[in-house]
Amino acid sequence: MEKFYITTPIYYVNDVPHIGHAYTTLAADVLARFYRGLLGKEKVFFLTGTDEHGANVAQAAEKHGKSPREYADEVAPRFQEAWETLGIKPDYFIRTTDPRHEKIAQQILQEIYDKKYIYPGTYEGWYCIGCEKFLTETEVVGGKCPLHPTREPVYQKEKNYFLKLEELSKKVLKKIEAGEYKILPEERHNEVVSRLRSGVRDISISRAGVSWGIPVPWDSSQTIYVWVEALFNYYSATRFLENKEVFWPPDLQIMAKDILWFHSVIWQALLIAADLSLPKTIFAHGFFTLDGAKMSKSLGNVISPQELVKKYGQDGARYLLMSQYPFGSDGDISLSRFTEKYNSDLANGLGNLVSRVAKLCEPFDPKELVETRENRSIREIKSFLVDPQHPNFLRIDLALDLIWGKIRGLDGYINRERPWEKETGDRKKILGEIIKGTEALTSLFEIITTLEPFMPETSKKMLSIFSGNKIVMPVEPLFPRI
Ligand code: ME8
Ligand code: MG
Repeated sequence: MEKFYITTPIYYVNDVPHIGHAYTTLAADVLARFYRGLLGKEKVFFLTGTDEHGANVAQAAEKHGKSPREYADEVAPRFQEAWETLGIKPDYFIRTTDPRHEKIAQQILQEIYDKKYIYPGTYEGWYCIGCEKFLTETEVVGGKCPLHPTREPVYQKEKNYFLKLEELSKKVLKKIEAGEYKILPEERHNEVVSRLRSGVRDISISRAGVSWGIPVPWDSSQTIYVWVEALFNYYSATRFLENKEVFWPPDLQIMAKDILWFHSVIWQALLIAADLSLPKTIFAHGFFTLDGAKMSKSLGNVISPQELVKKYGQDGARYLLMSQYPFGSDGDISLSRFTEKYNSDLANGLGNLVSRVAKLCEPFDPKELVETRENRSIREIKSFLVDPQHPNFLRIDLALDLIWGKIRGLDGYINRERPWEKETGDRKKILGEIIKGTEALTSLFEIITTLEPFMPETSKKMLSIFSGNKIVMPVEPLFPRI
């Protein structure tokens, strides 16, 4: 594979970012860094951004006494700041209010219209503004949307334009069955396929009553349905690039399972209708709860990325978010378990190991100890982070487990060999093994290097301890105990 194009959802600006948004964006950052830093791929494009149109955003703006535009201009930078705090470095941050995106979205929709995949009709049904979608009969439970129980669904009957999804979804199903693109994990693939097999109806792709949106190019009395236009962001961002043709289509699109249907069916239907090639892999990870409850404003238990970084540091927060439960499954997180894990794996684990080794090595010239050899850990991790066929595909948590197994291995080795009790010659030999590794032992250097995508700052700081003429310990401990 020559290039690697990875995307996250673009998040609604109806609210500020929380650690749920951070979870997906962080995973994408880890993967982009893995491809770029450890696999040496030059052409990596990591895209994230904000979804700024629609009724949901318009309502939030009104509540704050702002115009939607003002409000979006205020909230979008909050996301950029949050990513910076976490050391997340997207190659591009797209905002759907960018006029270039608006124009491209209109062009694609016009093409789909010209190809007769869009027709006028009348929609009648319940709409959930929180989801920004019409609810099917089974999705209305006791008159409410189960995902947004505090908001009333709105009954709407209006003239809309419809996408021939019934017809297009048959093509989508064929392409999935032919393996032209993958939906992962397996369980999610099965859900989507069975829903497709049970039949899909045409969907409305415009709004008569929502003015905060991109006008339908052939009928300015309507705006483009926010989901349709938002999905186009993945394409339009590549058109902003100098070298437009390099990155399309996406290699990996990640999101949580809440929006898998949009990403694995509606998105593909639109691309097929527009005659554009399809993304290679769609991966839906799970949803996490906090102490068993959904994070929500009404419960007042929402954690911001900044809070997490303040408590555990940038790389502490990255490590804890990525290691707490299997990537792909649902999970539960809690601050008390975060603190426990921080102390055991970072303060006492990695941090302690590095300062212990650095201390032992202090009398020696680091250049005599350090040597580059093949990094076997990268090879091991690559086998499942890169290959969609692998049963543990994208298990970032397992990659971290694997590295921590090696950290414990090295700790055990030091405890057995007791280099501090040895004569200078033997001591130097043992330290050499710790730093450079042996057939059986993963070296500290290898561990630190492999950590780069996961904990970039720490990796850099730890490498710098050993890379001058003298061992120089950082003034502050890398992971102070909490
Ligand atoms: O749906 N656990 O935006 P959104 C895991 N604008 N992931 C979580 C999470 C949690 N508890 N909470 C949020 C939208 N997420 C649309 C997307 S894309 C063209 C348009 C993450 O702000 C996860 O990635 O509601 C989920 O899919 C996304 O935030 C939803 O973000
Ligand atoms: Mg949402």
